[in-house]
Amino acid sequence: MNILILAAGTRNKVVQYFKKTFEGVGKVIATDASRLAPAIYEADSYYIVPPITAPGYIDVILDICKKERINGVLSLIDPELSLLAANEEKFKSIGTTVIGSSFDLCEMSLDKMQMYKWLVEHSYNCARSWMNKEKFYKAVDAGEISYPVFLKPARGSASINISKVYNMDTIDVIFNHENGIMIQEFLNGQEIGADVYIDMISGEVVSIFTKKKIVMRAGETDKAVSFKNQELFDLIERFVLEAGYKGQIDIDIFDVNGVYYISEVNPRFGGGYPHAYESGCDHMRLILNNLKGETNQRLIGSYDDGIYMMKYNEVMINRGI
Ligand SMILES: Nc1ncnc2c1ncn2[C@@H]1O[C@H](COP(=O)(O)OP(=O)(O)O)[C@@H](O)[C@H]1O
Ligand SMILES: [Mg+2]
Repeated sequence: MNILILAAGTRNKVVQYFKKTFEGVGKVIATDASRLAPAIYEADSYYIVPPITAPGYIDVILDICKKERINGVLSLIDPELSLLAANEEKFKSIGTTVIGSSFDLCEMSLDKMQMYKWLVEHSYNCARSWMNKEKFYKAVDAGEISYPVFLKPARGSASINISKVYNMDTIDVIFNHENGIMIQEFLNGQEIGADVYIDMISGEVVSIFTKKKIVMRAGETDKAVSFKNQELFDLIERFVLEAGYKGQIDIDIFDVNGVYYISEVNPRFGGGYPHAYESGCDHMRLILNNLKGETNQRLIGSYDDGIYMMKYNEVMINRGI
């Protein structure tokens, strides 16, 4: 069983975990567009590939899959998820499973406004959102919403261009300079991250790990602590099944005075996944089992409360790359 990790970047731990799980079973191969992506050097072998936007990119990846007899392929970056999903059949025809969600779900997860509409239609608690500032001002006048509000690009990531805004003047300035900004109700509560695995064969939710975020830095969870709550597990399971996600996903949730609000989904391994793995949620094993054709047993919340994660920097020294 061989696995290919695309856009490995700086996700060294994800590659290390796959290596541990695949030891004696198969190879872990990684790609990146840059030679200076440290995670590729953790793999059994690596390929430097063109950027995902280059013509013929998918053919390069398909060739690697054929040559290396890859059973499963996944990407660690958002813009590549839809591309993989769109080419799922091509991968299938050469015996490679795309570990991820459908094209439509990948697209919906990239677009926070589309996600918002889905959540409203399906009656999940979520922050009220507007793309049209005039409609938002009308809602303010009608007393439906009040400042502060949260502004972010509807197709953003890594917390780039986010701001807490207290008045109309600031909204006008931001809207004059940026396109595709969404105005969102400000959620004043505890931020939660969930790492979830949905069995690729049965479609069941088989593992959920939840943590309270303590400190965020550069769009990532820097410090967090694990916790368990049955109501939250039930909500996550219902949401994930109704939406139809598959494989590994990462969900942002807010707890506002005891009410859970779903904020966004990244249908891939999130930057905070090591916390789940080190607490006992080995999703690499769940992937391996699925690739072997085996369905995973449902084992939700099989970790301890109160496990802390604190990130720190590492360096890789490599001569002659
Ligand atoms: N409605 C909101 N109210 C308060 N804080 C928010 C809200 N939406 C997002 N945030 C904060 O901004 C961060 C980034 O927003 P998010 O929607 O997760 O986008 P992305 O992770 O794709 O950049 C979140 O982790 C959270 O800290
Ligand atoms: Mg987020």
